[in-house]
Amino acid sequence: MTGHMSKVRVGFIGAGGMAREHTKALKTMGDVEIVAFADVARERADAMAAQFGAKAYDSPAKLCQEAGVDAVYILLPPFAHGDAERAALASGIPFFVEKPVGLNLGLSRELAAEVERTSLLTCAGYMNRHRHSVNAVRELLVQDPPVLVHGGWIGGSPKPGPDYSITHWWIQKDKSGGQFVEQVTHTVDLLRYLCGEAEEVFAYAGRGFNTGIAGYTIDDSAVVNIKLRNGGVANLMACTASNAGGGVWLDLYAHNTACRFSGWEHSVTIHQTGQPAQEIQGEPDIFTLEDRIFLDAVSSGDRSLIRSPYPDAVKTLEISVAANESLATGKPIMLSN
Ligand SMILES: NC(=O)c1ccc[n+]([C@@H]2O[C@H](COP(=O)([O-])OP(=O)(O)OC[C@H]3O[C@@H](n4cnc5c(N)ncnc54)[C@H](O)[C@@H]3O)[C@@H](O)[C@H]2O)c1
Repeated sequence: MTGHMSKVRVGFIGAGGMAREHTKALKTMGDVEIVAFADVARERADAMAAQFGAKAYDSPAKLCQEAGVDAVYILLPPFAHGDAERAALASGIPFFVEKPVGLNLGLSRELAAEVERTSLLTCAGYMNRHRHSVNAVRELLVQDPPVLVHGGWIGGSPKPGPDYSITHWWIQKDKSGGQFVEQVTHTVDLLRYLCGEAEEVFAYAGRGFNTGIAGYTIDDSAVVNIKLRNGGVANLMACTASNAGGGVWLDLYAHNTACRFSGWEHSVTIHQTGQPAQEIQGEPDIFTLEDRIFLDAVSSGDRSLIRSPYPDAVKTLEISVAANESLATGKPIMLSN
């Protein structure tokens, strides 16, 4: 930043759905200025730039070199990472990056090494790590580690709509990684945040139920078994073919603690032996909280509240990429993290 009283100047790489979500949060913040957008679809960058009186750029590199930003938001589909992070690294610009942080583990590890080497301030979009419910459970589980974990993310069949064309990256496995990688990544990340690292992954997938969707190459469902380093085990599920019901949940069972997170907002009910049940509601506006923490870190230089630096998020990616590798090989995959 140029001076103590100046606003934080923010640029966006990727001007799609999540750019709309984060700008909604940022435009309510008096100390933040939205100054630049870049997108391979230039008309999207132009449209967002016009809305905010910002400049549109052709490439991440140009934006990072010319826009004079204090921070960039990298809001790209999983397959499209690399150039944006390299541009931010080359210009020394702190970045926020949406989850999953990539699809190519080798590339993400290279970027993580560069982030560490340069000590660049980064934050990945694992917003649930900032929830009161999640952090209350995390404290309890330090004393009483989980023996068994069960979680999942069950939704309906993909349907074309105003924001979703039939050729959308989400339904293509080589672009999104599939639902487990793209969506259940939130649950995989919470597993690591609440239970520690994992050591082995074994997965099965369900296929052949979603039919007649042009371009569809993802699995309809998946069950992923994960062996934890602490001796516990987890089973996480994905389904995108359940049209009569579904939801998001995460159940953790420890010796004397049982917790049930439910819903996108991750409200939790906590049971502890000999004590009344405790309920904590999830925050509805979690993106605003997440953005505030990142931008405060950018302007103050204090990173202590950032819960998901880029190199840590790459470890979450490793688990989901291992699930795909297990699906492809039919074998359990050892993790290195
Ligand atoms: N945190 C959450 O809960 C949450 C929710 C939804 C999506 N996401 C994640 O956010 C990311 C972006 O998702 P989205 O919904 O905004 O997708 P989107 O398709 O709506 O937008 C992505 C934009 O990136 C652009 N783009 C693609 N390749 C590019 C490149 N190389 N350089 C510049 N721009 C490029 C596209 O043209 C598009 O405008 C994904 O990783 C997704 O998983 C996170």
